[in-house]
Amino acid sequence: MDNFVEEISTKLDPGAIVRDPELIAAFTTDWTRRVSGKCDLLVRPRDHQGVLDVVQAAINHHIKLQIQGGNTSLSGGSVPLEGEVLLSLGRLCARCAVDPDTLVATVDAGVTLERLQREAMKYNLTLGVDLASRGTATLGGMAATNAGGLHVLRYGSMRSSVISLRCVWGDGTESPRSAPLIKDNSGISLTPLIVGSEGTLGVITELTLRLVPVLNSKAVAMVPFVTIADAVAFAGKVRRMTEAVSAIEMISRRAIRIVEEVKGVVFPIRETFEVAVLLEISSNAGAGDELMEILQGTLLAPQLQSTLLGIDNTSWSGLWQWRESITESIQRVGEPLKLDLSVPVSALGDLWRAVDEVQSDLAGGLDVIRFGHLGDGNIHVNLLAEEEVLDLAEVEIYRRVAELDGSITAEHGIGTLKKEFLSLVRTEWELARMRDLIAIFNPGRTLNPNVLI
Ligand code: MLT
Ligand code: ZN
Repeated sequence: MDNFVEEISTKLDPGAIVRDPELIAAFTTDWTRRVSGKCDLLVRPRDHQGVLDVVQAAINHHIKLQIQGGNTSLSGGSVPLEGEVLLSLGRLCARCAVDPDTLVATVDAGVTLERLQREAMKYNLTLGVDLASRGTATLGGMAATNAGGLHVLRYGSMRSSVISLRCVWGDGTESPRSAPLIKDNSGISLTPLIVGSEGTLGVITELTLRLVPVLNSKAVAMVPFVTIADAVAFAGKVRRMTEAVSAIEMISRRAIRIVEEVKGVVFPIRETFEVAVLLEISSNAGAGDELMEILQGTLLAPQLQSTLLGIDNTSWSGLWQWRESITESIQRVGEPLKLDLSVPVSALGDLWRAVDEVQSDLAGGLDVIRFGHLGDGNIHVNLLAEEEVLDLAEVEIYRRVAELDGSITAEHGIGTLKKEFLSLVRTEWELARMRDLIAIFNPGRTLNPNVLI
């Protein structure tokens, strides 16, 4: 370790090398508080060359590195578990350049989503991907984990927004600067491969991202449904009617109750419901009228009466608050086990029933809080219980998801928390090919040795 520190201290600025345990402690527990690691050294290079120097020195001295962006991982993918040196990209954030004619931004990996949103907004542009953790999540981390978020239905996950990347690979080599080419068909592209590889192939240092125009007319409805099956049917009908849908989110009654309890607020819908669907319509003009037409064409009169409408800025952001406050509110009542399940949208009813069955089999010891991205078939199931009950519930729910041809992670990634379950949803052949790729790009597992596989 001393030789490693000696080598990097000749190359990085003094502020880039941190050994103070108190400062390091802020980086070693992940956002869920369920994963805490140990680490004696934090390195924070400011540029691509600095990252290259750190990775090459790590290879020279057989040091393992754990990469971290904003540390907003919800699957333990960003903290060092076994004393790896923490390579934080938080200071690699000088560049955030918008090219308004190409509709792209070129950014350093440590730039936060919120900062890009601010810069892009100067040209009435934004990134299609948006998340509640926008103030902390970094674009490099979002690409490495193929983050999804609130508008996947319209704009896709990060993979759809990344045009090109610059990386330092785990073998100590580097790729060239990322170019803002909208079209480039010159052979096999490594870009879609590294997106979602969770830092097991290389460190992303710079990204060129596709931007989309900000749609200035928005309208939101919160519609209560007595069953998840009714909610799924509604979502399908709406999507067959228009392309203007920018989100179809789901909040269960239990999630609403937790937000009410923690925030001291009262949900305005008093009728009995199992799920509330947040539908957002965005366009350049007349979103409110289009939303009303959609609701009139899909809902019966009593349902229409209990629907909440957000037609102006204040009222639609008020409705979004219910959805965006869930994660933080649950975190205030406990340390949930966060499942991030995905099934075909048409199988959401089966998944709901399977989770209900697991809950009743565990005889009342399990608190189940469901919310998420109904339009994408991605439901977050947060579980609160004694650890042994959580372990049983997790295994059983994942088994049921695999039976439904679903995935154990739609957007949070495998990280360190879901590694043992990866083989439930990926074949031996696929796992072997993942290992082959890691052996090519990150041969000594210098980068993220405990993540993914
Ligand atoms: C969300 O959809 O709110 C995020 O994925 C965060 C979470 O799952 O808690
Ligand atoms: Zn989510």
